[in-house]
Amino acid sequence: MRIKVLTLFPEMFEPLKQSVLGRAMEKGLLSVEAIDIRAYTKDKHRRCDDYPFGGGAGMVMTPQPVCDAFRAALRGFPARRIYLSPRGAVLTQKRAMELAREEELLLLCGHYEGVDQRALDLYVDEEISIGDYVLTGGELAAMVLIDALARHVPGVLGSEESAEEESFMDGLLEYPQYTRPAEFEGLAVPELLRGGDHKKIRDWQREQALRLTQERRPDLFARKELDQRDRLLLGLEKPKEKKKRRKTAALREISPENSPEKACKTETDMV
Ligand code: ADE
Repeated sequence: MRIKVLTLFPEMFEPLKQSVLGRAMEKGLLSVEAIDIRAYTKDKHRRCDDYPFGGGAGMVMTPQPVCDAFRAALRGFPARRIYLSPRGAVLTQKRAMELAREEELLLLCGHYEGVDQRALDLYVDEEISIGDYVLTGGELAAMVLIDALARHVPGVLGSEESAEEESFMDGLLEYPQYTRPAEFEGLAVPELLRGGDHKKIRDWQREQALRLTQERRPDLFARKELDQRDRLLLGLEKPKEKKKRRKTAALREISPENSPEKACKTETDMV
């Protein structure tokens, strides 16, 4: 995936070269090119901002350098164009995964009170916000977006990390994780995790994820479709299987008046 970013502060993107994204760049899976909007200004003082028409506080980024930077960046680079702005649709995991399928992306970072609307009307396909708060500029938001979508580009994460990611896609928060030592500052790792019963461990992790989501993100929990295992783990449903078996065994032992039809009816009544 190739990403270009139009910004007044290209050096802010240097930290992306670290860690997972840095390795993805070395492997040729991802490229991020920060382009200095100021290099395109025709203003004799190299200014890229001016006072807003209609008055009001702050400055507005002028359209000329932004539009010229867009035109230059788009040459041979047929990218989807995104403006990072608190006015945009809030970024979700789903949108990050969709954008990860784009071959090219061109991001615009605003500053001051924003960018002249005409530049946005002419060149921007979509506005994205990273949350309901206002940053001093779009650069951090662009980096958040790049990070969130790069991890969905095939090969960027190792297979273990990709598998782990699926748990969030499942619409639940992560269960608590522990590593060695088994006891630290008087706090022990839950006993069950130290045993070898993998079924019990998976059930514990699932239950923790469900309960954490229910407690901390009731909005996510409300949207989550619980399957039978989930309902059992949360105690919303009683284990049926065992009862059925016990009942069938019991029926076998008693008189013929307990016909199979009658047994079925009894089961249905239980539900
Ligand atoms: N620029 C300023 N605040 C922002 C936000 N919350 N999301 C995206 N871009 C921004």
